Amino acid sequence: MSRRTIGFIVTLCVLTAGMAAFAQTPLQVKVPKGLPALPNPDDNPITVEKVELGKMLFFDTRLSGDNTVSCSTCHVPDHGYAEPRSTSKGIGGQLGGRNANPVINSAYATSMFWDGRAEHLEAQAGGPVENPIEMGAEMTVVAKNINQVPEYKKRFQAVFGAPASKETITKAIAAFERTLLAGDSPYDRGEMSDLAKQGETLFKGKALCASCHTPPVFSNWGFYNAGVGSDAEKPDEGRMAISGIAADKGAFRVPHLRNAAQTGPYMHDGSIETLEEAVAFMAGGGKDNANLHPLFRAVKAQNLSADDVKALVAFLESLTGDYPVIKAPKLP
Ligand code: HEC
Ligand code: HEC
Repeated sequence: MSRRTIGFIVTLCVLTAGMAAFAQTPLQVKVPKGLPALPNPDDNPITVEKVELGKMLFFDTRLSGDNTVSCSTCHVPDHGYAEPRSTSKGIGGQLGGRNANPVINSAYATSMFWDGRAEHLEAQAGGPVENPIEMGAEMTVVAKNINQVPEYKKRFQAVFGAPASKETITKAIAAFERTLLAGDSPYDRGEMSDLAKQGETLFKGKALCASCHTPPVFSNWGFYNAGVGSDAEKPDEGRMAISGIAADKGAFRVPHLRNAAQTGPYMHDGSIETLEEAVAFMAGGGKDNANLHPLFRAVKAQNLSADDVKALVAFLESLTGDYPVIKAPKLP
């Protein structure tokens, strides 16, 4: 073999090795019937390998300070990736003040958390890791620990061409979260009961629900004061703590209502146990307080009846669709 040929083969090997680092399979996520096109940011495209990695991290307690808590501790897969408790129990059994949002369909949210303090899924995932009550860890320490696991090291190289870091860990988790979509419900398939259809008419009409819980995901992602927790000793300031605007006191981001039948307890503080009670609360115009949003007064003025509430509940129940309930993967 001539020197030139050897040189050529070596160059070829180096090139393919380099390419292998980024040889990823773009993932065409199948968007369930009824949902809009999936946002797929240019700087974090969804790939098969990245989603697989993000899935492992989502279930891995290595992301917490004492190896006891993973994302899935609070975002329980068969609970719409929300939690069955009122407020979160994190590291060392500490209780937070808010109920974990469902992660299903959070791909569509225009801001993250009840108060919108993070911009998108990529900006969100570092939050819980470093929150002293939730996972109580340092991202730099977590990244260091992850890089010591050969299997993870290999996967991060293959997906990002870089080791685990705050950026690559949060990107992988965000890509995984974007695939957790719930749609194709009886509502989307046009298979609703008569009662649910009555509920739909109310929801989109007289009851004014759709002005905030706007289809197709059933949130306009705005912030409103519904009075939840307004009589607490130290009420949660909600959006005001982020925006600094007095009118945002006690305002929280409108939760989406897909699969709401599965994600109780309800409201930002998990203070309402059942869907029936949550709907009755909303249909009654929330809880009066100095900052109650005027739309809730308008809802109250509609004098919705107990039968209206039943129909609204039946409608919301028809928004339950299949979504990927992922089993904890084998971790390296
Ligand atoms: C100890 C419980 C707990 C753990 C662990 C936890 N979360 Fe959360 N999560 C919450 C709570 C509570 C909220 C709402 C917080 C708020 O609004 O202030 C939340 C909100 C979110 C949201 C916002 C969804 C939306 O609609 O805005 C996403 C996404 C999320 N968490 C993903 C994660 C990921 C990823 C991890 C792991 C890195 C994680 N969570 C770990 C409790 C937890
Ligand atoms: C002015 C905007 C607005 C209107 C109108 C409105 N909602 Fe809400 N809804 C919210 C907000 C904001 C929350 C969360 C409040 C909180 O936790 O502080 C919420 C919470 C809910 C929840 C609990 C969901 C969860 O995951 O915690 C349900 C169910 C609900 N609304 C149903 C309805 C129904 C049914 C109607 C019509 C009768 C309605 N809403 C009208 C803004 C609105």
